[in-house]
This record gives sequence, structure tokens and C-alpha cells, in this order.
Amino acid sequence: MVSDARIKLELNNALGGTDFAVGKRISGKVRDSYLLPGGRRALVTTDRVSAFDRILGTIPFKGQVLNQIAAYWFEATKDIVPNHVISTPDPNVMVVAECEQLPLEFIVRGYITGVTETSAWTNYARGARVICGNKLPDGLRKDQKLERPILTPTTKHEVHDRNISRDEAISEGLISPELFDEAAAVCFKMFEAGTREAAKRGLILVDTKYELGLLNGKLVVSDEIHTPDSSRYWYADTYEELFAKGEPQRKLDKEYVREWLAARGFRGEGEPPALTDEVRIEAAKRYITAYELITGRDFIPAEGAIAPRVEAALKKL
Ligand SMILES: Nc1ncnc2c1ncn2[C@@H]1O[C@H](COP(=O)(O)OP(=O)(O)OP(=O)(O)O)[C@@H](O)[C@H]1O
Ligand SMILES: [Mg+2]
Repeated sequence: MVSDARIKLELNNALGGTDFAVGKRISGKVRDSYLLPGGRRALVTTDRVSAFDRILGTIPFKGQVLNQIAAYWFEATKDIVPNHVISTPDPNVMVVAECEQLPLEFIVRGYITGVTETSAWTNYARGARVICGNKLPDGLRKDQKLERPILTPTTKHEVHDRNISRDEAISEGLISPELFDEAAAVCFKMFEAGTREAAKRGLILVDTKYELGLLNGKLVVSDEIHTPDSSRYWYADTYEELFAKGEPQRKLDKEYVREWLAARGFRGEGEPPALTDEVRIEAAKRYITAYELITGRDFIPAEGAIAPRVEAALKKL
């Protein structure tokens, strides 16, 4: 584990944003993309942290952690499902094949949980028994394992993500039945692989979001996979006991920052409270722990100023 002192040193080096002269830049909430010749996209994972759909500041080493966890998982699953990765030329950079992204995000859930307005648990607790076309039995409790994983797609590129079923997505003309079913099969395969690997490390992959794209007419997994930003992970050893008592699970995901904000009364409306050094350091430790637990490897912090290092790597592409 990286020392507190090393994380502290990084507080002022964290990467908030980039603006390099290396091709058209598209800025997402967490990543800055650069479109490169040859149908390539350089995904620069910054240290920005978002919650409640807002950018709230930076967490030291978050970008490196996310990029390297995604790289680990793409490598571990490449024989199961094709993906968009071309190379990882820097700890914060992944070069990928530019894909035609499907207009849906595919969320696979092995457990029923969540706290936000759109979460599966919130809907279920209010009486919904069909979630994105999936029929659920009565009597489920929060954090309960589902009989089998379910797919709960949301729309992408809309102001707010909207839950949608397979039939609605097809009747709205967002996707063909064939492509939807192929995508669903890919997602379940990935989730199965993720669940299996996570279990070896004492973790439960609770739910996760996939983005898929078409590359030369073929379906590939794109974006990031199985990272703490796109997934929930719980510790397996305490699951049963906490579930039996109805207590919150021990988590390994970005929930920490969300809960810190919520405890200060911020749930997405108005001005978010500024993240303190203490909360940034604690969040960094959690991201680093996530990296080490998920990959089974020590986290090696990249040295030096991030922005010039990343720029130099991009200029060589
Ligand atoms: N292979 C790919 N081809 C094209 N686009 C991709 C590929 N992989 C990821 N992307 C896109 O790159 C962006 C990554 O940036 P980031 O995750 O920060 O964005 P976001 O804020 O989650 O999403 P958005 O900006 O789309 O609302 C996303 O828009 C994602 O859909
Ligand atoms: Mg994203």
C-alpha cells in the first residue's frame, strides 16, 4: 500500500483536465478522449471524481487506478469477448479502436441494491416487480442475491439516463432485436467471468455497467470494465452476516465519496461541498486498495508530473 505521505504529495499533482494538441479532444466526466488517425481514440483517465452526475474535484491516483484496473480486466477477458483495446502506453492512457457506440448502457446485476432514485432496490421497495422487463419475485430484501443475474439497460446520450426494457428499446428504434440479444449475451458472459475472478480474490461483483460498440460491424466491449467507477464490489467474507442482520455491506467502490457528500446534505442539487484533503486521501487509499484487491498486484504509483508525461506519451502515438 502506498504511504499517506506519498498520497499527500500527490494532492497537487492530481490530473484535473487536459488540453493537448494531439487531435480532437472530447471531454467526458472522468476521461478526456483524443481522436487519433487510423480510427484510434486515446482515452486519458484523469483523476476527476464524479457523483450525482457532477464533477466534484480530483482524487490522487484515481486515473491510474481506473485505467490499470480496466486494462487488467480487458486482458483477463479478451479470450471470452473481443474488446476495443489497442495498447496502454502510459499508466493513465489506453489507446482503443474508435467504435460506433450502441445508444444503450448495459447494466448487469447479480444482487438487488442501490440508494438512488433510479436504483433497482429503490424501485422494488416502492412496489415495482418488473424492472426493465425483468420479473422479480415478492419478498426480496435489500442486497439479496438474485436467482440469476438480470440486465437493466439505460439509455445513453440523454440528459438523464432512463431505465429501459429490451422491448421498449426495440420499439423506440434504438436497437434491433438481434443486436440487443447478442449484446445481452456478451454482457452476461463478461459478468460471469468477472464474478468468477472476483470470487478468487474474496470479492463479490455486485453489479456493473458495460458499454458496447460496433467495430467493422462486429460487437466489441468498449469504455471501461469492472472498475470501481462502473461497478459495485462487496467483500465476500462478511456478506452473509451483514445481510442476515440487515446491515450495509462492506464496499469497495466509489460509494465512499457519494456517502461523504450525502452526509453533508448534498444529493445533486445546489453547490457541492468542496472535498477536503482528508477525504481525498481516504478516497485515494480506497481506490488503491481496490486496485490491489481486484488485480492481486501491488499498486506502483507513477512518478513525476502527470500532464507532461501523458502529453509525451500521446505525442508518440
Ligand atoms: N472504443 C470507443 N469508441 C468510441 N467511444 C468510446 C469508446 N470507449 C469509450 N468511449 C466513450 O468515451 C467516453 C469516456 O469518457 P467518460 O467515461 O468520462 O464519459 P462519461 O461522462 O461517462 O460519458 P459521456 O461523456 O458519454 O456522458 C464515453 O463517452 C464513452 O462512451
Ligand atoms: Mg463513463
